[in-house]
Amino acid sequence: MIIRSLELETVCGITSTLPENTLPEIAFAGKSNVGKSSLINGLMNRKSFARTSATPGKTQTINFYNINQELYLVDLPGYGYAKVSEQEKKKWGQMIERYLHQSKQLRAVFLLIDIRHAPSANDKMMYDWILSQGYHPIIIATKLDKLKRSQVQKQIKVVRQGLGLSKDSILIPFSAVTKQGRDEIWDLAEEICGL
Ligand code: GTP
Ligand code: MG
Repeated sequence: MIIRSLELETVCGITSTLPENTLPEIAFAGKSNVGKSSLINGLMNRKSFARTSATPGKTQTINFYNINQELYLVDLPGYGYAKVSEQEKKKWGQMIERYLHQSKQLRAVFLLIDIRHAPSANDKMMYDWILSQGYHPIIIATKLDKLKRSQVQKQIKVVRQGLGLSKDSILIPFSAVTKQGRDEIWDLAEEICGL
């Protein structure tokens, strides 16, 4: 994908009305700090257009990035962020659920999992929930650069088994540092959006 234009078009807080877009949407879900905003920056070829942080809980809104007036990349807040209240967590869970449930243009959900760790109970819940909404989550195993090359295949297995992925489920390892995996993710996103 050649990026000709990009714009943060819509930012939704807990009480916002979700946009009724006409272009296809691709959403990125995953626990806080897993690298959703960094992946979106990588896809957009920008260092910090989407705000990232070493502290979990950076993205607290649903952000719609319009790419080339052709599609949206949708940055979701992370789940499992310990520092916010239970009530806040619940509200956010509901907001993310509402988006995944209501969006008419959502074409695919990418679920990000840190390649270094086995998926958590929350990851598994999110995976199952995305499935139950009729989407087949595409797994991005993030922070690939943090592994030694000799560990990669083993960790891919750990992630696949932890989520209970079938053989035909797609898992793409990605690094925001080296950009490995970027072209594969774009090819898939373009195909899904019919571009
Ligand atoms: P929330 O917005 O809090 O839900 O987090 P997020 O999933 O958007 O994570 P974010 O992109 O802000 O990244 C969190 C931290 O991980 C930042 O310090 C990033 O620099 C770092 N990070 C993200 N992706 C990678 C990667 O592929 N490799 C390395 N080494 N660090 C990464
Ligand atoms: Mg973020």
